[in-house]
Amino acid sequence: MANVIVIGAQWGDEGKGKITDLLSRSADVVVRPQGGVNAGHTIVVKGQTFKLHLIPSGILYPETECIIGSGTVIDPQILLEEMDQLAALNVSVERLYISQTAHVTMPYHRLLDQASEEKRGEHKIGTTGRGIGPTYADKSERTGIRVVDLMEPETLEKKLAWTINNKNVILDKLYELPPLDVEAVMADYLAYAERLRPHVVDSSLKIYEAIKARKNILFEGAQGTLLDLDHGTYPYVTSSNPIAGGACVGAGIGPTMIDRVIGVAKAYTTRVGEGPFPTELIGALNQHLCDRGAEFGTTTGRRRRCGWFDGVIGRYAVRINGLDCLAITKLDVLDELEEIKVCVAYELDGATCDHFPGNAAQFARCRPLYETLPGWQRSTAHCRTLEDLPQKALDYLKFLAELMEVPIAIVSLGASRDQTIIVEDPIHGPKRALLDATGLPVET
Ligand code: IMP
Repeated sequence: MANVIVIGAQWGDEGKGKITDLLSRSADVVVRPQGGVNAGHTIVVKGQTFKLHLIPSGILYPETECIIGSGTVIDPQILLEEMDQLAALNVSVERLYISQTAHVTMPYHRLLDQASEEKRGEHKIGTTGRGIGPTYADKSERTGIRVVDLMEPETLEKKLAWTINNKNVILDKLYELPPLDVEAVMADYLAYAERLRPHVVDSSLKIYEAIKARKNILFEGAQGTLLDLDHGTYPYVTSSNPIAGGACVGAGIGPTMIDRVIGVAKAYTTRVGEGPFPTELIGALNQHLCDRGAEFGTTTGRRRRCGWFDGVIGRYAVRINGLDCLAITKLDVLDELEEIKVCVAYELDGATCDHFPGNAAQFARCRPLYETLPGWQRSTAHCRTLEDLPQKALDYLKFLAELMEVPIAIVSLGASRDQTIIVEDPIHGPKRALLDATGLPVET
């Protein structure tokens, strides 16, 4: 039995959806602790593609309970669309629970997100435009509307009237946008509330009870370490805490209840939105990774920026999340390359820097220092064990594990569930039993 956090070790889009889907097989409960409909998971099961934004991927297993935790922000319209989509595909959403203390994204949040991005011009963050920042801002300002407020029409009416009047001033004076109508918003959200009501729970209590009943719980992080509000590439970050510590806060449980933390990283790096990206590639290689890896956002359809694997960021993710092991995804995307570079340190103002500088201006000046490894130039999509991999692909993985000083427990070589090498079952397997210090199997 284990309680496991899965988090993104880069800038999001690492393929957490597939890994959490795989691990959900052994989970009784899957919890989404933070983020909102800015996230997007694509999961392929038996040739059928599911695109999920808020609902944990565990919903695809008929017995698994799924909880959207307190640290999330919920856009009820999109959540209901997602629930309807699943129901249309004969996936039951009866086992979906929503925290009563999660905050609710309102129409003014979306409008303000988009309007403020436009006003920022070339200094824009490149948000998903889903109202995430403004929803979390209201939460911090203590003017937010929570799921529990939706459940009480009188409270909702009072809060909404006050808030919309204030937001209308901002919409009008700052952005020259038309005002929102309190009655219309109220009517929409009351209708959403009635449909969501049967799913609303005290999520922290529900998770605690599951822990006491010794159930397996998977905490499914959204976004990635470098998008963390406190520890990422601020200001080019999201407005929640996607790191492992954030999972405890968002779920409402103590850190002593967590057994393991698994980081997910692509075999290269991608980023959407603005902000520095030291290993970013331009030209044909960028195009190759983008095309070969189908690097387009699930939520916005935006083209992702692509670059080489950044070991400095990898080590940072190991440290800031206390990673026990890594899942490396999309190794197959590198199959055709003659040589593959890995950033092992940065050059910063003439000196070598082997750690992630918290100072944004310094990070923007970092230039990657690479080691070049030979490519394997063979297809790996069919590989199901480490022994099936070409030696050079194995060497590449070993290089990453040594660089980050963390074992690699899972290797993913395609979108399907079966295109996976489980080096060690991170939930049930004896901790690191099959692994030497670098994360690859002990030679016997
Ligand atoms: P926001 O979360 O919509 O406010 O966007 C802030 C930044 O986080 C932007 O650079 C987005 O592209 C990025 N972002 C938010 N969610 C995700 C995600 O799920 N994957 C990758 N990037 C994301």
